[in-house]
Amino acid sequence: MRASVIAHRDFCISAIDDRVYGAFLEHLGRAIYTGIYEPGHKTADKHGMRGDVAKLVRDLNIPLVRYPGGNFVSAYNWEDGIGPRETRPTRLDLAWHTSDSNAVGVHEFSDWCDAVGTKMMLAINLGSRGLDEARNFVEYVNGPTGSYWGDLRKKNGRAAPFDVKHWCLGNEMDGPWQVGHKTADEYGRLASETAKTLRAFDKSLELIVCGSSNADMATYPEWERVVLEHTYESVDHISLHMYFANRAKNTANYLALNHKLDSYIATVSSTIDYVKAKKRSKRKVSISFDEWNVWYHSNAADRAVLDGNGGWPHAPRLLEDIYNFEDVLQVGCIINTFIRRSDVVKIACIAQLVNVIAPIMTEPGGAAWRQTIYYPYYFASIFGRGTALQLDVTSPSYDADVAADVPYLDISGVHDEAGGTLTFFAVNRHGTETLETSVSLEGFGEAAIIDHQVMTHDNLQAANTLANPNAVTPKKGKGAKVAGNRLTLRLAPYSYSMIRLKLA
Ligand code: AHR
Repeated sequence: MRASVIAHRDFCISAIDDRVYGAFLEHLGRAIYTGIYEPGHKTADKHGMRGDVAKLVRDLNIPLVRYPGGNFVSAYNWEDGIGPRETRPTRLDLAWHTSDSNAVGVHEFSDWCDAVGTKMMLAINLGSRGLDEARNFVEYVNGPTGSYWGDLRKKNGRAAPFDVKHWCLGNEMDGPWQVGHKTADEYGRLASETAKTLRAFDKSLELIVCGSSNADMATYPEWERVVLEHTYESVDHISLHMYFANRAKNTANYLALNHKLDSYIATVSSTIDYVKAKKRSKRKVSISFDEWNVWYHSNAADRAVLDGNGGWPHAPRLLEDIYNFEDVLQVGCIINTFIRRSDVVKIACIAQLVNVIAPIMTEPGGAAWRQTIYYPYYFASIFGRGTALQLDVTSPSYDADVAADVPYLDISGVHDEAGGTLTFFAVNRHGTETLETSVSLEGFGEAAIIDHQVMTHDNLQAANTLANPNAVTPKKGKGAKVAGNRLTLRLAPYSYSMIRLKLA
């Protein structure tokens, strides 16, 4: 089967915002406790943070990590996580029916972010709480000493402000499952007043207002219109979430789901433009896709804890999806979509980072390892920085449940002008046919292949586990060639490829 692509140096979509390679960590299951934090672990540092996990995170070069929730944040008291550990209360977490010792709070999380080379993106509780707690939290985190909250932070060991720029105004407030769920008008008013108040403290904060929890919500996309009409002039981003599942065990339909993601982004982008026009505004709000990933493998196993039958366990195994090779293809397609929509998606966070629907897994007291999906996320975060190219793609296609004419070839191209490289991320969605792909390179001058990594496997269900952590890994690709201005690739059935070219 043949496919062709034209990549032209001057046909660009947008500069890719580095923040699209963000991640998310919630006080949920073992994400924090026995995930990033495990005092007593043989690799733990003086703060009790696992060194083996920190290394795997550091390698990903993540620009920001959203924290501490998620659904958890909607009943969270940030004050519980500050001050001497021995005085911190253990609280019941109503979102996940667990208990939280609060051994990790904003100070510990900040130290961990410094250690792994990332920045905090903090979420505020606008579910059970409101404006006053929000402003106190922001003043505690970013305020000067010589004021009540700044002095308290200093007393707790940190004189310098944390200087956190990104603040999420609540989480999934459209969701009836959320503590403090609101209508679009109720939430829009509260978010608008909260944004105004936070801006009175610091105009330069980047504020993220809640959009829809997913594109199947009954209130989508009216929610976005109403919330943006309340908040347009005072926020920077609208948050979207989407999780992907292959419950019907239909790979073709599963791998077409990024077309639904694409429509979701397009619809919200149009809604932003509509409100912008209605308000006669010069402001450009963008999308923060701050929760995305595959999530379904663990659903059945989680029922016992979520139904409350096990009481209120601390750090139980929850949402521990074991990802397979098929999910590599899915994550490759999702990230390609974010690259292709880099004109409007300026932040995106893989949800989550450790143990909970995560690319990194740990065993308490034992090893940490990379799940299959670690690799496409890694390749994109390391090599997907630069300018997204507007590729012209001709590929055979198929009809799926969510879209007609889904091309077998899903591809994105990134030109890093400063580094002199051109990188393609390609997924072959066909299960039996190799895609003989010809890429015409226009206006780039001489090019040579410097790296070609391929992920393929004869078993779509193959996974990396504690016992076998390297069952699915990238291998050096073969058969790619550049001759003149033509790159030719043989994309194997059900494969993910990353090809990097050095430009003269
Ligand atoms: O990431 C898991 C959960 O998914 C988050 O807590 C919530 O925001 C979403 O529904």
